[in-house]
Formats: sequence, C-alpha cells, structure tokens
Amino acid sequence: MKSQNPTTTQAWKRLANFSEVKKHQQIKNLFTDPARFDKYAIKWEDVLVDFSKNRLDDETMRALLDLAVELDLKSGIEAMFTGEKINGTEGRAVLHTALRNRSNKPIFADGKDVMPDVNAVLAQMKAFADQVSQGDWLGYTGKPIKSLVNIGIGGSDLGPVMVTEALKPYQNPNLEVFFVSNVDGTHMAETLKRVDPETTLFFIASKTFTTQETMTNAHTARSWFLEKAKDGAAVAKHFVALSTNAKAVAEFGIDTKNMFAFWDWVGGRYSLWSAIGLPIACAIGFDNFEALLTGAHAMDLHFRHEPFEKNIPVILALIGIWNCNFLGATSEAILPYDQYLHRFAAYFQQGNMESNGKYISRTGENVNYTTGPIIWGEPGTNGQHAFYQLIHQGTHLIPCDFIAPAISHNPVGDHHVKLLSNFFAQTEALMNGKSLEEVKSEMAKAGKSASEIDQIAPHRVFEGNRPTNSILIKQITPYTLGALIAMYEHKIFVQGVLWNIYSFDQWGVELGKVLANAILPELKDAGPVSSHDASTNGLINAYKEMRG
Ligand code: F6P
Repeated sequence: MKSQNPTTTQAWKRLANFSEVKKHQQIKNLFTDPARFDKYAIKWEDVLVDFSKNRLDDETMRALLDLAVELDLKSGIEAMFTGEKINGTEGRAVLHTALRNRSNKPIFADGKDVMPDVNAVLAQMKAFADQVSQGDWLGYTGKPIKSLVNIGIGGSDLGPVMVTEALKPYQNPNLEVFFVSNVDGTHMAETLKRVDPETTLFFIASKTFTTQETMTNAHTARSWFLEKAKDGAAVAKHFVALSTNAKAVAEFGIDTKNMFAFWDWVGGRYSLWSAIGLPIACAIGFDNFEALLTGAHAMDLHFRHEPFEKNIPVILALIGIWNCNFLGATSEAILPYDQYLHRFAAYFQQGNMESNGKYISRTGENVNYTTGPIIWGEPGTNGQHAFYQLIHQGTHLIPCDFIAPAISHNPVGDHHVKLLSNFFAQTEALMNGKSLEEVKSEMAKAGKSASEIDQIAPHRVFEGNRPTNSILIKQITPYTLGALIAMYEHKIFVQGVLWNIYSFDQWGVELGKVLANAILPELKDAGPVSSHDASTNGLINAYKEMRG
C-alpha cells in the first residue's frame, strides 16, 4: 500500500488553497443547480445516499476524487481484499470481507486459501444455531435453551449487541438474549438474576481469550452455574467459546468441540461476521445471519468495483475528510431514525475511533493533519430533545449522518410518518437555518413589540449551513443492515488509507490495561500506597479508607 503524507499531494494542496473561500459556501445556494440532487446522491439497491447537503461543489468533489487517485486508494482496496498484510504493526492481513465472501472464490492469507476454514466454521455455526433455535440443544436437565448470555467486550460485544437489537423483529420468540461486558460485577449480577442455569447458554466471546473483563465475567458465570448444576460435565451443555485461542479455551475448561474459531486476520471490531456472530445466528436464525453476510458482501462488491465517483463508502469517506481536514469539524454524529438501531452509533464509535484514532503515520512519524473524528450519536427523535441544540446553534461544526428506513417493522398509527417528518425537517433546518429577517418578520406577525424583537430575535436565528448526509433504506432487514455496516466499515478503511495511518491495530488501549494490572494487587493489599504520583496515590489511599 502506498505510504505518503496526504498533505504533500497536489490534490490536498488544491483543497487547502480553495477551502479558505469554500468553507463559507452556503449549501442552500448550491441548489441553484437543478441537477444537484441527482449528481450528489447515489441509489444503490434499496439504499439512497444523499450527500447533496454538504459544502461541496464540483471543483471540491473533483479534488477529493483526485486525492484518492493520487494516494492510490485503488491499490489499497485491492491489498485489503486480496489478503496483503496491511495491518503493518501486527503483521496481519485484514480479511473480514472473506467471512462474508458469498462468491466463495478463493482468498489467500499467507499463501493459504481461507475459504475452506471460513465455510467449515459457518457450517458448524449453522448446525449449532439450528439446534438452539429449534429447541433441540438441551441443558443438563434436559430442558431446551431459553436464555443466551454473551460474555465479551469491545468488538466481542458491541457488534452482536447492535445487530441483535437492530434485528429484533427477526428474533426467535422462544429465546431471550443478554449481553454482559462490564467487569463491574453489577452487569453480571443483574443478568444472572434473570436467567435459569438449566436453560441458559453462555457464549464466552473473546478473540484473545485473555481480556480481563471477559475472563473475570466468564469465571463468575461458570462458578454460578456449577453452584447450581454441581456437575463439571454439565459445563459442556451450557458454555461455548468464540475465539482464536484454542489453548486458552481448553484451559478455561470448555471442550474445544464447543469452540467456534476465527483467525488473527479478523480485527475485533470487524468480527461480528465471524464466530463472534454466533449469538446473532442463534437469536435470529442462521438464514437471517446468512442474509446479513450476503448484504455485506454485496456492499463489498460495490466498494471494490464501482468507480470512485459512484462508490458510496469512498464518497462518504472523502466528504468526511473535507469536513475534518478542511472545514474544521472534529466530530461526526450518527443519527438513526430507527429505535432498533439504538446501538448503531455506539458500535461505530468503536469501529471508527479505535481504527482511526491514531497520530502516528504508516511511516512512523507524527501526522501534521487531523485524523479520525469523534463519533457519537443517538436515535432520532430522542436526540432532538437532547443535543441537537448544539448542532443547530453551537460553536462546533458537526456533520451528521441521518439514517432512516422508509418502512417500519411496527406500522403503528402515524408514528412512522411523524418520525420521518422529523428526519427530513432536521436536515432541511440544518441546511437552511433561519435568518434574522425571517425571525423578525415572524415575531412582528405574532404581535411582539419592537423592543422584544430586538432583544430576542438574535437568539432565534439559525445560521444553518450545517452539513448532513441522508441515508434512506427501504427497510432494515438482515440484508440491508449487513450492507449498511459494511458501508461504514469501508468508509473508515478509505479514510485510514488516505490519512496514511494503520487502521487495524489498537495499541492505544494497551497502556491503561497494563497500569490496571499493576494497580490491582495494590488494591488487594491492605496498606497505603506510595508508588505513584501524588494524585493517584491520594485517590487509591482515599478509596482504601472509604471501603474500610
Ligand atoms: O479494546 C481493545 C480490544 O482489543 C478491542 O479491539 C477488542 O474488540 C476488545 O478489546 C476485546 O478483545 P477480545 O475479543 O480479545 O476479548
């Protein structure tokens, strides 16, 4: 993969030059071009992506596309799909796309076709998920499974949570799904109150099978289970492992025939397509899980083969770069107008921030430009009554992605049209704003006095000109959700390539882990500590005093 500081390209220089003027461009004025919506929207299958409400004109778009060409994005994409070791700091390929490679064409990692292994695990998952969902997998007292408890954190939690929530309409009514991630004992304790050991299946989900939180929770779950079952042999009917680490799985006491494997070329935050997706497959049925993979694969093909001009992940990534690097945005909001997608922003908070939260370039130097934005968001319309005030009238520029299904799974009264009217209204308001003249004339019409108008009117002005993308999907199905997730994954990938950073490692989370392990024995010890800085010593000693 080409490694070049993007600021040294001709295209970047052009963008930087004209951005000083273009950042004042009024989005609404760009709509004097009657063809703007047709030019700045892409329809792909049942998905419409409208990016016309951005401070973006043909010259900017051209320069952004040139940037992608100059930095040889095409080769970067091919390098990922063909199993090159693009995760340079860990010496690994990045092949989550192989997990959903429905074409089944060979894909090589380290000279070995990975597809036979991928297919073998998928077959194992299917057999298991079928048994669980049909009530044929029996617990130690012969009862069918009713509760699925996934124990994992980060990528081994957020993907399965987000997808099972998003696809709740497809969930098997005989099964309830729980997720325990936090090492705070409350998470496990509250979950165990709600399940019965005779009918509960635990999925210990951990790529490494060493993560402190997951292993602590897994041991607690096993002790709780054995207290009731009083028979070590019963563990095999109630615990399965989703991992790359067979040795640690065996050491934990899970028979490796109850282990569902994946490989080091699957990044944690890209792993829901792998064995980590097993609780999803059990909850919604394997056919639906397969449809999720198929949707993602369709987006993979679009991303790999479509020219950049019509390539949704590429366009979204380029717009993100324009907003971040040239217009000064430091965060991006993801705002799904679909209650089922309530964990979607949280999922891509990890997906994006763990991938592109890097200040060292692929050549090992500090970057001299902004990289990954802060990702956040909540479903609409709830967010409207919480933080949209700042998006509309705050001092930060926050580009937003609005996502909505045209068809609801719950067509109750006029709820969905009301929801969608808010979706459309928000993107319109963010673009158009409301001028002082409009406010004044409205207030005058409402009979307000001149002095009241003078005093209040400025507070009621909306500058507008806030950039948004609108993503309209016919309906959230396993297939379209798969495509939507893959679309964001590839957007993140493109930005990582262009920012010249390694998107597939996460060294930044290590230091805290190491220090926590060093502090743990000090907390278990009775005496005061003095080995840290004054603040940390003070806090630890105060904690020890408080707990008594
Ligand atoms: O937070 C760091 C991280 O390594 C994530 O990338 C990963 O998703 C998570 O921890 C869980 O790791 P594991 O699946 O190995 O338990």
